[in-house]
Amino acid sequence: VRQVAAGDLTAKPVFDSQDELGGLTRAFAEMTQQIADARELVQRGVSQLEGARRRLQTILDSLSAGVIVFDRAGRIETVNPAAARILRQPLSSFAGQTFDAIPGLSEFAREVWQRTELHRTSPEAGEVEQWQDAFELRLQERELVNLLVRGAMLPGEGRLLVFDDITELASAQRTSAWSEVARRLAHEIKNPLTPIQLSAERLTHRLASKLDEADSAMLERSVATIVAQVQAMERLVNEFRDYARLPAARLAPLDLSALVTEVLSLYGTDQEQGRLACRLPADLPAIEGDPTQLRQVIHNLVQNGLDAIAARADGRVTVMTEVARREDGAPRAVRLRVSDNGPGFADHVIKRASEPYVTTKAKGTGLGLAVVKKIAEEHHARLRIANLHADGAADGPAVGAQVSISFSRFAPPVSTTIASLEPAFPTLSPTGGAMQGR
Ligand SMILES: Nc1ncnc2c1ncn2[C@@H]1O[C@H](COP(=O)(O)OP(=O)(O)O)[C@@H](O)[C@H]1O
Ligand SMILES: [Mg+2]
Repeated sequence: VRQVAAGDLTAKPVFDSQDELGGLTRAFAEMTQQIADARELVQRGVSQLEGARRRLQTILDSLSAGVIVFDRAGRIETVNPAAARILRQPLSSFAGQTFDAIPGLSEFAREVWQRTELHRTSPEAGEVEQWQDAFELRLQERELVNLLVRGAMLPGEGRLLVFDDITELASAQRTSAWSEVARRLAHEIKNPLTPIQLSAERLTHRLASKLDEADSAMLERSVATIVAQVQAMERLVNEFRDYARLPAARLAPLDLSALVTEVLSLYGTDQEQGRLACRLPADLPAIEGDPTQLRQVIHNLVQNGLDAIAARADGRVTVMTEVARREDGAPRAVRLRVSDNGPGFADHVIKRASEPYVTTKAKGTGLGLAVVKKIAEEHHARLRIANLHADGAADGPAVGAQVSISFSRFAPPVSTTIASLEPAFPTLSPTGGAMQGR
């Protein structure tokens, strides 16, 4: 009995007698056996449950969608790593707290909660099981994230929230929508422009002689304004159109440094005044590039840089090219970098600067960087837009802006026929990697 009380439920010896003591010990042995069986059943259940829980956790951990489970009081019960990654918050350390207690997420939490309540009290047709909505969320550094959120009630009044980061998708959708808008706008606006200008000019010709001097001067001024505005509009529309149907790049071997040098020669005054500087090594591997398009890229970036430093006496735009190499010395990328010491990108534009029509300038079209992005894509190159910070501390104030494009498609090496025709050519390496030697 003492053993059993202490939890030892192994089979106990039974006194083999027919009297009451024997009956009692037999009954006792049976009872211990039953308890042991029951305990084993419970243990098996627990370990099955534990196995299921672990399986669920593994599934949750490997999901790319964020998952949060709330209890009936709205406290965080379970989160997966993707949720923490998407919301940029160490969510698991907020377990047991309500969603809106997390710094920076309170507004999002409130909106989501309202949505959840709405769904619970009056679900719309077609969303009885779950609801789904898109949210825009401003995270630290005022970065904007688009989330697609789905929610459902769980048994026992718990709530389930599943969400995906669709920022890039949304951005791509906006870009293609804007291209379409640009194309139509260009078409619709351009057609009447020439007739407007011609009619205005005809007015002057017809009426000038019939008016007295003051009226005729007035007429001429007005017509001049109309013509100037029409021409400005035409320029704008052309920019729209160019953006909407930028021709496909025609790639050919290209020396990026040489191209930059050529384009920058048009900015002679800025260079003389020290507002524009460059660092262009001559030994870059040749990339696959479309010179016409890349000229436009350089112009757009330099123009943005010069705009950014316009208000600074000591402003300076720097254009650089450089090559990044792999460990074995083979080129990995050729980079074009345009930086300036202006105010940097405004917080609210930096994530969207390369989308069309994003501009902070009174006369800007917001197409410059959009064109740069399109051309970079045509070149399979990577575009990076960033602010520069003092001492590299990312949370400090911006001390400038930098846009860089990494080209990783190189022109094919000089063919072996040429190499064999010129066996004495000194810079060809024996492996045929002609590019390194240039
Ligand atoms: N070098 C820079 N420094 C700071 N802000 C910049 C810089 N380049 C671009 N921007 C920001 O990005 C926006 C979009 O640039 P862009 O697409 O060239 O259009 P636009 O120059 O017509 O405004 C600009 O309005 C400006 O706010
Ligand atoms: Mg611009």
